[in-house]
Amino acid sequence: MSGVIIPIQGTQSNSGKTPSVEPLMNLVQSDMERVNHLVLSKCGSQVEMIPEVARHLIDSGGKRLRPMLTLAAAQMCGYRGDHHVTLAASVEFMHTATLLHDDVVDESDLRRGKLAARMLWGNQASVLVGDFLLGQAFRMMVESGSMKALECLSHASTVIAEGEVLQLGTAKNLETTQDEYIEVVRAKTAALFAAAAEVGPILAGSNRSMLSAFRSYGNNLGLAFQLIDDALDYGGKAATLGKNVGDDFREGKVTLPVLLCYRRGGEKEREFWREAIEQGENDDTRLEEAMRLMHEKDALADTLERARQYCDLAKDALATIEDSPQKEALLEVLDYSLLRAH
Ligand code: IPE
Ligand code: IPE
Ligand code: MG
Ligand code: MG
Repeated sequence: MSGVIIPIQGTQSNSGKTPSVEPLMNLVQSDMERVNHLVLSKCGSQVEMIPEVARHLIDSGGKRLRPMLTLAAAQMCGYRGDHHVTLAASVEFMHTATLLHDDVVDESDLRRGKLAARMLWGNQASVLVGDFLLGQAFRMMVESGSMKALECLSHASTVIAEGEVLQLGTAKNLETTQDEYIEVVRAKTAALFAAAAEVGPILAGSNRSMLSAFRSYGNNLGLAFQLIDDALDYGGKAATLGKNVGDDFREGKVTLPVLLCYRRGGEKEREFWREAIEQGENDDTRLEEAMRLMHEKDALADTLERARQYCDLAKDALATIEDSPQKEALLEVLDYSLLRAH
C-alpha cells in the first residue's frame, strides 16, 4: 500500500538536527535498564502461558515512551529514591495490558512488527494475560508506597477503559463530532501520558504547579500522539509502524481524518464514506480512494496541524520549569512525535 505524503513543517530542532528521542533515552538510560529488568521479572508466573504471551509483546520492543516520561520527570523534580523505577515499570505494564486488550477489540493482526498475541494464542489468552499485567501494574503501584501515585495511576486505568468503551459508541458513526472524538482520545491515550508524566513529580513531593505542568505536558503530548497515530493509519507505512496501515478503515473507526473528510465532502463522497465505514465496503481499492480523498480534503494535513497545536500546548506547559537537559529532551520529544508523521 503506497503511503500518502503528509506535509509537515517546523520539525527541525533549533540546532537544525533531526528531532529524536535519543537525548531522552540517554538521560534515563541507567534507570531504564532497571525498568526493563523489572518488567521482565514481573511477567514471570508458574502458569507458563503468561510469560510466553507477555514476553512475545514485550520482547518485540516498543518505544517505551511513557516510562521514559516518568523517569525524566522524576529526575527533573530531584527525586532521589527508587520508586520512580517501580512506577515507570507499572506505567509500561498498563500500556502493555492495554495493547493486548486493544488488539482484541480492534481485531488487529500486527503489533510491534510481529503477529499480534491474539493471532498466536487467541483472544481469550490475550485478554487474560492483559489482566495479569494490569494486576502486576497495581501491585507495583502499591509497592511504591505512595497513595497519591496509586490514586493517579489507578484513576488513569479507569479512564483508559472508559475511553475504549466510549469509542465503541463512535465506531461506524460518521456523525461523531470532533468534540466526541477528542473526548475519546483524551481518555484512551492522553490519560496515561498525563499520569506517566505526573507520577515522578508526585513521588518527589513537588508542589501543585509542578504537578499541573507535568500533567499538562503529558496530556497534550498524548493527544498529539494519538492524532498522529490516527493520521499514520492512512498515511504511514506498515514497515515503520509495526502495525498494518488501514486497520482503522477496515474496522470502521471514525478518527479525525475520516471525520474531516466526511464533513468536507459532497453528497457522492459522503455516500462513499457511508458505504466504507458504516457498511464495511472497505477493500484495498476503497482504502486507496479514502487516502486520495484525505489528500484532496487536507484531512491528514489538518489532523497533523491539530497535533502540532497540542504539541505547542505541551511546550508551553513546561515553560516555567527550570531549564535542564531533561527539559530540553522532553521538548524534543514533541518535535520527534510530529516527525513520525513524515
Ligand atoms: C500505541 O502506542 C498506542 C497508541 C496510543 C497509539 P505506542 O506507539 O507508544 O506503542 P509502542 O509501545 O511504541 O509499541
Ligand atoms: C490506542 O488506540 C489506545 C489504546 C491502546 C488505549 P488505537 O487502537 O488507535 O491504537 P493502535 O493503532 O491499535 O496502536
Ligand atoms: Mg488499536
Ligand atoms: Mg491507531
